[in-house]
Amino acid sequence: MTSAQEPAFGVGDASFQAAGGESGLQQLVADFYQVMEEAPQAAIVRAMYPDDVSEARDRLASFLSGWLGGPKRYAEKYGGISIPQFHTRWQVGEAERDAWLFCMEQAIARQPYTPEFAEYLLRQLRVPAERIRQVQTACPARPGQS
Ligand code: HEM
Repeated sequence: MTSAQEPAFGVGDASFQAAGGESGLQQLVADFYQVMEEAPQAAIVRAMYPDDVSEARDRLASFLSGWLGGPKRYAEKYGGISIPQFHTRWQVGEAERDAWLFCMEQAIARQPYTPEFAEYLLRQLRVPAERIRQVQTACPARPGQS
């Protein structure tokens, strides 16, 4: 059972719908990269991305669509991905994880989400973000990294 206080965002495509569907996710991701561009706290992660983030925007929005229970756009367009493994090519420690989450927190705050969904989404995003950091710690001998 769910109540008005605890919407079942994880069920079916409820999260995808709460995020405003594909156009809502495109806006979230556009704002995410906008914050990353502008916020001094984000410089540490901005430096990891290419100058032109238009492709990265589409990839992240596509991924979030499926991840939130909507259409699996990333798989359709780009194939399979393991988020922790994919990110082992960069060095992601606590500072990078927190800077990335900071951008998401700011971007989420710019959306017309309910406070419940805003809080839920950020909490969910912390899971893969932390996983990325942990997987890196587990394989310290990545090629090309000290
Ligand atoms: C923990 C902090 C994170 C950092 C520092 C980080 C950094 C990056 C960087 C530098 C790229 C490459 C962009 C490009 O070259 O175009 C990228 C791509 C991507 N990231 Fe992250 N990321 C983080 C967390 C996450 C999380 C939590 C998710 C999923 C919820 C995610 C999903 C993706 C996806 C889907 C891509 C595109 C993959 C592709 O190129 O096909 N990232 N990330």
